[in-house]
Amino acid sequence: MTVIRSQLIGTGYKLPAKVLTNDDLSKMVETSDEWISTRTGIRSRHIAEKDELTSDLSYDAAVMAIKNAGIKNEEIDFIIVATVTGDTTFPATAAKLSKKLGLLPGTPAMDVNAACSGFVYASQIADNMIRLGQVKTALVIGAETLSKITDWTDRNTCVLFGDGAGAAIFRAAECAGTKDDTGVLATKIYADGSQFDHLCSDSGVSLNQKAGFIHMDGKEVFKIAIPSLVQGVEESLKIAGLEVADVDWYVPHQANLRIIDSVAKKLEIDMDKVIVTVDHHGNTSAASIPLALAEAFAAGKIKKGDVVAVSAMGAGFTWGGMIIRV
Ligand code: UT7
Repeated sequence: MTVIRSQLIGTGYKLPAKVLTNDDLSKMVETSDEWISTRTGIRSRHIAEKDELTSDLSYDAAVMAIKNAGIKNEEIDFIIVATVTGDTTFPATAAKLSKKLGLLPGTPAMDVNAACSGFVYASQIADNMIRLGQVKTALVIGAETLSKITDWTDRNTCVLFGDGAGAAIFRAAECAGTKDDTGVLATKIYADGSQFDHLCSDSGVSLNQKAGFIHMDGKEVFKIAIPSLVQGVEESLKIAGLEVADVDWYVPHQANLRIIDSVAKKLEIDMDKVIVTVDHHGNTSAASIPLALAEAFAAGKIKKGDVVAVSAMGAGFTWGGMIIRV
């Protein structure tokens, strides 16, 4: 019996032009290139200009993805943006983007806030809608301007984050319904609200009418990030009916190279199969996975037929995984 599956038909990304190096940061707070690179693997990150908005980065990433997919903007019949740094409190950044992209009136548009797991959450929503036959072509974006909620006097956090956007286009196609199909083979998402305080903004619209700054208990997050990222891959592989040995590429959330190393070891995935961008992107939250995916496609690493495993973990806590055969 045939089934509908979401095919990944195009990806795109956008990074702001401005680059901030570890040496630049060492002139702003008491830190060093040595500390940042050995503890996190980060060497530089991109920072948006004051008038460069999350929707602007999203737009450029979307245009690239649409071009790579070889479709027309009007063919997109669902748009979803994962972000914690939307342009305005409301409406959704996705709605703004819909207008900018000239999508047909009536095309549903929404944002999702699942922090660093946002792209996996948004992809699950899009995939489910495609499989139900509600939409045919979904534009899924992860985009952040985290620099705008970063306390640039706090060395515990300001060395970690960056700005950027990644986009993916998923399209419905009939498949045989086996584990050898192409397309999204599994998605799995989780949350545990009891961990809310370990990684959060200190402010909010309802709380004090401000956006606030990022606060993180790094050690607590580090401990839980590793098993969560492992679980995201293992559980989604199980749903897909595949094994670690079937994975051609692993695209983890890019927060810390030590975390990525440790997850790859636990999963027994060779680091040669792991896409690493944290060195030049820093942690871009919801943008991290689609940015890494799009860069890997642009570099010709991921090829037709490859099995890509993805897992993410972030504030909430939220976490999850996804398996795609390209
Ligand atoms: O995106 C969601 C997922 N996020 C993550 O997965 C992040 C998880 N956490 C981490 O990646 C790591 O915990 C950090 C990179 C945030 C911190 O690394 P750490 O090895 O856990 O360092 P630490 O927080 O234990 O700090 C060690 C020392 C402290 O000094 P003392 O107390 O030992 O004297 C800090 O004050 O390093 C100090 N320190 C710094 N020194 C230089 C903290 N930040 C800096 C800094 N430069 N930027």
